[in-house]
Amino acid sequence: MSGTFEAPIISPSILAADFTKLGDDVRAVANADWIHVDIMDGHFVPNLSFGPDITKQVDGVTNQVLDVHLMIEEPENWVETYAKAGADCIIFHVEAVADENAALDLAQKIRDLGVRAGFSIKPGTPIEPWLDKLNHFDLALVMSVEPGFGGQKFMPEQLDKVRKLRAAIDEAGLDTLIEIDGGISAETIASAAEAGCDAFVAGSAIYKQEDKAAAVEELRRLATI
Ligand code: DX5
Ligand code: ZN
Repeated sequence: MSGTFEAPIISPSILAADFTKLGDDVRAVANADWIHVDIMDGHFVPNLSFGPDITKQVDGVTNQVLDVHLMIEEPENWVETYAKAGADCIIFHVEAVADENAALDLAQKIRDLGVRAGFSIKPGTPIEPWLDKLNHFDLALVMSVEPGFGGQKFMPEQLDKVRKLRAAIDEAGLDTLIEIDGGISAETIASAAEAGCDAFVAGSAIYKQEDKAAAVEELRRLATI
């Protein structure tokens, strides 16, 4: 996957956008590499966001990569729907599938749909069981907040997982991308880049700024090492 993308990849999370003018808020970050689409079902996380219809509408206003983060139960029932809605990368939570084999099967199912496959991991979940399975995934998303809400404080200890992923990916010669999500800002992004992240999700740090494109540029500059 990294063959076609150059780090640092900045992925604004539209969870922090103004939904009454979502199209404008997507176009406002046309200089970003990807668009991060947070799907929440009120069960896997205690919050609701939006679903495939809005994802499809977002896909209709941009050619940017749609980085779809499924914070839902039974993700295996939804990957086809999100592939059809325009997802370029579908990320599911390892905590939402039965076991490691189910995760590998789901990754394959996503790849068979012609979509890049990613897994995400909550702050309390160990990364170790996944380090020898990274060849099954195009992307690993480390959560640096508890999933469910934007605007939370960055958890720096989660960078240990990034370092372990970076070492495993480099040692195996893989091109699996490492993405980080939660509390990424001008204050925290450099530490994530130094730990080895390729892609950076940012919601509030971009959408709470007057000039959103300038915020993207500034984050990219700070993540360039
Ligand atoms: C949290 C979501 C994040 C969120 C990030 O569950 O997965 O993508 O939008 O928001 P900030 O950047 O404000 O922490
Ligand atoms: Zn997210």
